[in-house]
Formats: sequence, structure tokens, C-alpha cells
Amino acid sequence: MTSQELIALEDKYGAHNYHPLPVVLSKGEGVYVWDVDGKRYYDFLSAYSAVNQGHCHPVIVDALKQQADVLTLTSRAFYNDVLGEYEKYVTEYFGFDKVLPMNTGAEAVETALKLCRKWSYQKKGLSPDTAKIIVCDGNFHGRTTTIISFSNDEDARKEFGPYTPGFVSIPYNDLDALAEALKDENVAGFMVEPIQGEAGVFVPDEGFLKGAHKLCKEHDVLFIADEVQTGIARTGKLLAVDHEEVKPDVLILGKAISGGVFPVSAVFANDDIMLCIKPGEHGSTFGGNPLACKVAIAALEVVKDEELAANSQRLGEILRRELAAIDTDMITLVRGKGLLNAIVIKPKDGKEAWDVCLKLRDNGLLAKPTHGDIIRFAPPLVITEEQLMECVEIIKKTILSF
Ligand SMILES: Cc1ncc(COP(=O)(O)O)c(C=O)c1O
Repeated sequence: MTSQELIALEDKYGAHNYHPLPVVLSKGEGVYVWDVDGKRYYDFLSAYSAVNQGHCHPVIVDALKQQADVLTLTSRAFYNDVLGEYEKYVTEYFGFDKVLPMNTGAEAVETALKLCRKWSYQKKGLSPDTAKIIVCDGNFHGRTTTIISFSNDEDARKEFGPYTPGFVSIPYNDLDALAEALKDENVAGFMVEPIQGEAGVFVPDEGFLKGAHKLCKEHDVLFIADEVQTGIARTGKLLAVDHEEVKPDVLILGKAISGGVFPVSAVFANDDIMLCIKPGEHGSTFGGNPLACKVAIAALEVVKDEELAANSQRLGEILRRELAAIDTDMITLVRGKGLLNAIVIKPKDGKEAWDVCLKLRDNGLLAKPTHGDIIRFAPPLVITEEQLMECVEIIKKTILSF
């Protein structure tokens, strides 16, 4: 089938809950993807930072294949011989007592919220059903009914009410607002993205995370870091909170924990928090399945073996420097950390970020606009300097063509 036919097929039989860039991909390897006509592109989205290790990384795919032949799913009704190995590996890797395995980012966020509420009643001593969790304006934590209840993105929220109560939203990157909100004694947790990815790669001021963590400690409130997008080397450190040497009470990971090979997510906490949840109180049929466990171990090994955090840190600096040097008034801002970056586009002659992305596609690079005028640049972290410079040339040529 042609691209047009395949797009028409999705349009006819699939729900219209996405608006993809018109390109139909059929193969991926490392930093590249190919469309059905065999044209090759640089992937500058990495499936929203899930494919940090590059497409179809052979080590991760091999782990999947080997385990697929042996045992795929037992549910948690029984033990299996991989889950414990994974739990030991991953808790040592990230430095927590315990992990609670789930599948998608949104599920892990839900898990963290439930865990925080449980802890607040059992350990902090809040009265039943009074717990509040502080979040930030502009947040993106997923798509469940509870999560969209505290979103301020109208598209995400509108006509999906009634909404889950118990959340308070404050401006992002605002320690004064956090201090004020923490005066409420019913606050149990503060959940934050160390960099707001979906909002358009908003990097908070240096000191915000450290300050927020300190305020949380002073008020006996859990600091919950949603690193679903920023985690696993994306921002130039293993975790984005590592830039400020902050240790969250609850850490949420997803996406790249499996290198984009399989849906895997996880919530981490120490025993005093994690053991507040008892048998029967939370779970998932697929969470912690043997395939997911083997894939995640392999994906995390790749991050260490290939020193992806250091590569992300180094090449991110080069990318931002090169983007800022493009002589154009169409790019009004370049921001980011590591290889999680964005440019802000000022429309020119009626041409907007979407048109820029279409032309980038024509020139061999795939990126997607967010919130109208922002384009995220987040290639797989296995990209080399030579490849990155080729991408810079594509971006430069594209922008200067308008
Ligand atoms: C910070 C953050 N949290 C949670 C999610 C939700 O993850 P998922 O789409 O796997 O449910 C995302 C997805 O983009 C995210 O960026």
C-alpha cells in the first residue's frame, strides 16, 4: 500500500485522537527511521523520548526475543523467575529500596498519586479523604481521568469532567507559590516534572528543584518527580533531578526504561513509603511481566554501557549552540538540557511550526510541533557528533528556505 492508502486506512478505522505528521514509517535502526517508500529520516522526536537507546537496539531486541520464547506473562498471582532479578537490578540502579512495576507512564503517575495518598493517611496522619497534592500549571502527566483533572490544557480536559478533587495547581518554577501552597496542612505531596516536556521543554531556574525539595522536607510533604520524559539520560544526567543533586521521595519512570521496545513503567520509593500499599490495594495484570523485566534490564544496561548520559550532555550543548547561531528571525528562542530541546518559531509569511516540520520531513528529519509554535528536538541519545552536525545542516537549510 502507498503512504496515502495507509493514512486513509488509519483515518477510516482508527479514532481521531491524534494528528500525525503525514509520513508512514515502516523501519527503524539507531537514529534513523524509513518510510514505506524507503526514504530515510533522522528521528528527532524519539517517540517522545522513549527511544533514547535508538530504534531496535540489538541488545534490547535480543532480550525480548529470548524471553518471548520462554515465558511472557504469569500475572502477579504467582511468582516468576525474572521479576525479582529485575527489581534488584533496577532499585540498585536508581538507589531506592523498592520498585512498583507498571506499564505506561500514566499508570505509574496514578500509582505515585495513590501511594502518596496512602502514605499521608498512614504516616503523616491526615484525616480520611482530605489529602491534597500540589502540581504545576502547564503539567503533562498523562491522560487518565484523574490526571487530566489537574491539567490546565483545555484540549486535554474539556468535556471529560466531572474531575477528581484533591489537587492544587501552582505556577511552575515558582518557589514562593509553593511555599504559600504548603501552608495548607492537608498537603501530602508535590508532583513535578524536572523539565516540562510536553508543555514545550520549559527548563526551570537553577535551584528550583533543590528549593522545592527543601520546602517539601520542611513540611513533611513527599517530593514526587515525574521523570517519564526527562529520565534515563535524556537531559544529560541519568535523571534530570541529578543536575541539582535532589533525591525524590517518589520517582516515576516510563518510556526509555524499555528503550521503546515494550511498555514498561515504574515507581520507586523507600520502604517507609512503598510499604504503605498492601496486597490487593494496587496492581496491574501486565505490570512486572517477564518480558518487560528482561527488556528493561537490557535497556538500562545499554544506557550505562554506551554512556548515553555523557553523550546527551555533550551533544546537547553543541546542538543548542548551533541552533542559536542560525541567522534567522524565525527562531526566537532555543532552550533545553542535554538532548531534550525546543525552538520557538515566529510565523513568517503565514508559515508556522507545522510548515517547518513538513519541510524538515521533506529534507529528511522528523520533528513535531507542540502548542502551535514550539518544535521539540530530541534525537535518540546514540546520535554521533557527525550525525548531529548533518541534522543541524538540515535544520539550517530548512529554516533559511522560508
Ligand atoms: C512527564 C510525563 N509523564 C507521564 C506521561 C505519560 O506517559 P504515557 O503516555 O506512557 O502514559 C508523559 C508522556 O508524554 C510525560 O511526558
